[in-house]
Amino acid sequence: MKIAILPGDGIGPEIMNEAVKVLEALGEPFEMETAQVGGAGYAAHGHPLPDSTLKLANEADAVLFGAVGDYQYDRLERALRPEQAILGLRRELGLFANLRPAILYPELAGASTLKPEVVSGLDILIIRELTGDIYFGKPRGVRECPDGPFKGQREGFDTMRYAEGEIRRIAHVAFQAARKRDRRVTSVDKANVLETFQFWRDIVSDVHKEYADVELEHMYVDNAAMQLVRAPKKFDVLVTGNMFGDILSDAAAMLTGSIGMLPSASLDANNKGLYEPSHGSAPDIAGKGVANPLATILSAAMMLRFTFGRSEQADRIEAAVKRVLAQGLRTPDIYEAGTSKVGTREMGDAVVAALQ
Ligand code: IPM
Ligand code: MG
Repeated sequence: MKIAILPGDGIGPEIMNEAVKVLEALGEPFEMETAQVGGAGYAAHGHPLPDSTLKLANEADAVLFGAVGDYQYDRLERALRPEQAILGLRRELGLFANLRPAILYPELAGASTLKPEVVSGLDILIIRELTGDIYFGKPRGVRECPDGPFKGQREGFDTMRYAEGEIRRIAHVAFQAARKRDRRVTSVDKANVLETFQFWRDIVSDVHKEYADVELEHMYVDNAAMQLVRAPKKFDVLVTGNMFGDILSDAAAMLTGSIGMLPSASLDANNKGLYEPSHGSAPDIAGKGVANPLATILSAAMMLRFTFGRSEQADRIEAAVKRVLAQGLRTPDIYEAGTSKVGTREMGDAVVAALQ
């Protein structure tokens, strides 16, 4: 069980320390090796995804990833910016299936900005296609505008595209995931405007023929955004493309009140995976010891479940997280009056203690 540990930037190293501590406390023969990525990769090796880091990620069975990005790297040319590390890992490792659960822990019902009755008991799973769409489509760039009223001016352009096989494989992931849940899939598209997403809708419907036991509904992305804040509990599994999934998963995360609680998994065709918290590097609070490590700890649990098939250890971590919440321990992002405010390290220590 070889794990590549990529802490990254900002709060990445702090939260990763706690996740590693929890993994070590399980008493399993993990082999963990750390490498730099993102701004830290650029600072050490001149590239956000150094060759040595990519090699380690390729050799490992799973990657545990912190977060990347920091103000000081914002002015670098696009190819050298920290975000390229995560995009490069997704592409190079073929991590096409991104699973982003949005679960509201009952103890945190008050942390959501939505009314408790709208979100209490929320448990939805967003499945985002991760290696296609306008994120990776070519051609792209800035060129001279070839026609129309702005002819001759510069224009920026990207290409939205999905191959049939790309849609089929993510649809299978969604229907299979739904079979382990409430057997309902909502496929989110923009078929009323975009050719790419009419095609998406047709292919998802075709794959659905193999899953008569799962209910399929199609929904336009604008309506899905509205339903997510109006009646989010109506959803079970949402499946969508890379761009829409990026946006909707942030909205879904906020339903739960704290993005600091949400793990994610990005899987290839053989369940090799990269696991990371859904939140970013939060450079404004980096180094202060106040970041919430639970999303990273819960990402480690997802890794145990999906890549290593050790569900009982994943359950152990998840139960420990529930226990520390029940004990009233809260990092500042989820703090409410009447609970006990703790820092990153104390929260990690409490999860380790609750494992026993
Ligand atoms: C995410 C992030 C990334 C994305 C960025 C950092 C490239 O927003 O994982 O959702 O857009 O996919
Ligand atoms: Mg995003």
